[in-house]
Amino acid sequence: MSAKTNAPLLLCFDDELPSARRLAQAANMAVAPIERHRFPDGEIKLRLPTTLPAQVVILRSLNDPNEKLLELLLLAQTARSLGARHLTLVAPYLAYMRQDIAFLPGEAISQRIVGSFLAGLFDAVITVDPHLHRVATLQQALPATDAVALSAAPLLSDWIAAHRPQALLIGPDEEAAQWVAMAAARHGFDHAVCHKLRHGDRSVVVALPALAVRGRQVVLLDDVVSTGHTVARAAQQLLAAGAASVDVAVTHALFSGDALQLMQSAGIGEIWSTDCIAHQSNVVSMAGTLAAALTHLQDRIFSI
Ligand code: R5P
Repeated sequence: MSAKTNAPLLLCFDDELPSARRLAQAANMAVAPIERHRFPDGEIKLRLPTTLPAQVVILRSLNDPNEKLLELLLLAQTARSLGARHLTLVAPYLAYMRQDIAFLPGEAISQRIVGSFLAGLFDAVITVDPHLHRVATLQQALPATDAVALSAAPLLSDWIAAHRPQALLIGPDEEAAQWVAMAAARHGFDHAVCHKLRHGDRSVVVALPALAVRGRQVVLLDDVVSTGHTVARAAQQLLAAGAASVDVAVTHALFSGDALQLMQSAGIGEIWSTDCIAHQSNVVSMAGTLAAALTHLQDRIFSI
């Protein structure tokens, strides 16, 4: 498909066409798929629309990120050679944000490296609830001209208020405090966070906060669930302490391997997520929030 010269165009990969259509509709943009071919040896070839407008937006959620990062390199450079002058990456999930320091000597600080890589390809990056723990702003981790971090906490809070109006919001670790506080403030929920010690990928110890949970409908709120061990450990302890129910609300449903089964076995009831990563647990769409940020960015850039 070729695009009108001035209207921004949204490019997406075929596996994200449904979420791209939701975003395109909310942002009033045309959407075009990128053709992708995999050669027998595993290399990939991309094909873009041959006429691109000055302003191109690419939707790519960076779960399973390794191959996607290479695709973004091919894509961004090709888009510029085809006429794009301003490239925005909408990455609802931004990968490699958790490795923000060298925990052991010699470790790669992935956040900084991947952030610089993306900043070199894109003029603007928009994401949702990036895991910023020891850095204050997304710009520090990803120094693009515009680096916009949105949050799903308000919409998850609305969902929780509709389904568990008396919820006690608990973050499974201290890093969740930012999202828990934001969600709690919106509807006046009681809230607290656990203390977590991580010993390995699938080995965490969670200590409950010092507040009464007996009889409460607890919702565990976090940015990411990966293996599910963090929320499973927290849920087991909350139920043992007398919580009436434990549900999970999460922005990014990575849900690696048997995470869902593990969470259910731990006694977790409902599992609610946003569509930042497509998953059967998606109940909250971020399309409107992403579209508003995109429109704001475009209005500002093209009014200069
Ligand atoms: C890290 O602090 C994140 O906020 C999550 O708590 C963590 O990534 C969850 O990992 P998992 O589900 O593998 O325990």
